Amino acid sequence: MTSMAATPLIRIRGVGKRYGSVTALADVSLDIHHNEFFALLGPSGCGKTTLLRAIAGFEDPDEGSITLTTGDTQPADAGEVDLLALPPNRRPVNLMFQSYALFPHMTVSANIAYGLEREGLARSEIARRVADVLVTVDLQDKASARPRQLSGGQRQRVALARAIVKRPKVLLLDEPLSALDRRVRADMQVELKRLQHEVGITFVVVTHDQEEAMSMADRIAVMEHGRISQIADPVTLYQRPVSAAVADFIGMSTIIPGQAAVDGFTALGERLPAAPSGVIGPALLVIRPEDVRLHADDPTDAAMGSLSGTVLATHFFGGTSTTTVTVAGLGRPVLATQIGPPAHRIGAVVRVGWPAERAIVLPDTP
Ligand SMILES: Nc1ncnc2c1ncn2[C@@H]1O[C@H](COP(=O)(O)OP(=O)(O)O)[C@@H](O)[C@H]1O
Ligand SMILES: [Mg+2]
Repeated sequence: MTSMAATPLIRIRGVGKRYGSVTALADVSLDIHHNEFFALLGPSGCGKTTLLRAIAGFEDPDEGSITLTTGDTQPADAGEVDLLALPPNRRPVNLMFQSYALFPHMTVSANIAYGLEREGLARSEIARRVADVLVTVDLQDKASARPRQLSGGQRQRVALARAIVKRPKVLLLDEPLSALDRRVRADMQVELKRLQHEVGITFVVVTHDQEEAMSMADRIAVMEHGRISQIADPVTLYQRPVSAAVADFIGMSTIIPGQAAVDGFTALGERLPAAPSGVIGPALLVIRPEDVRLHADDPTDAAMGSLSGTVLATHFFGGTSTTTVTVAGLGRPVLATQIGPPAHRIGAVVRVGWPAERAIVLPDTP
């Protein structure tokens, strides 16, 4: 993990970008640290690609600054370079596009060597670096293959090798795994994380898949409508979301609208278990499915919450199961996850509870 006190590698301040009446980025500020695996996460259209392209130099922001710290190994040389003043090919960053096209008529080696040849490196140096990176992505036996002879995952690894071989300080990856099927994607998530660790390059990965971001990134910036909603490590994002929108985006949750006061949270005419928050007024209670407990309805069980509901559906996933409970007055059903098979039948009346300290109260702002 990188220290928060360290000088960031990339410093983004107040970046805005509009396309006509569309605001793609609004007042975006964030720091990306040396050797960090950083993820930009958000729904389609929230501005992720635009931000990546602005870092790479393919998009000019309307306002704001993007700087890069140089000379990180020798603090005496440390200085800030204005990235926005440099053309894309002079920036020490490499962008791997959403649709990475390999040259179909070239071998794997030639595809990887292409960028280095354009830089005019010596033939022996190119051969050595290509051989090294083929080992890194575990394709040493595919050096002479053509792209069409490779699986989707292998093609993806060639594209990664092509980006890594240029040894950028920062590798920008736009939805790098979206073209792969589920199984290969899970493997590549592990692979990307290993690669990043091994090559010591800072990765900035764009994704709309929260599990993907959570499983790979050291830190995640959650974006909505061109703005940064929250920047944090995956555990903090999950446990301490700053808004219901972030909570909803980061994993499944039950969100109950109500009123927060000094002495607790009230919804549906009941006082519900909630962590102390300092929020006063209209509020949202956020509860994660793994914190919800269901008990066969027993009005004498005072330890349980006072809500009761009816089991609408159960899903058994093997190791865990999820039970969906409708509670009168709540717009959305309550989700409860437990280890093992579901404990209640569809149609059963159950009491719904959770430990107060696990239920987060957030202001209900429009
Ligand atoms: N070249 C462009 N011209 C007009 N609108 C654009 C252009 N590029 C992006 N946009 C708009 O800016 C917003 C953000 O787009 P984008 O950064 O591609 O989002 P994301 O990558 O998160 O899906 C969207 O509303 C998109 O339609
Ligand atoms: Mg995009």
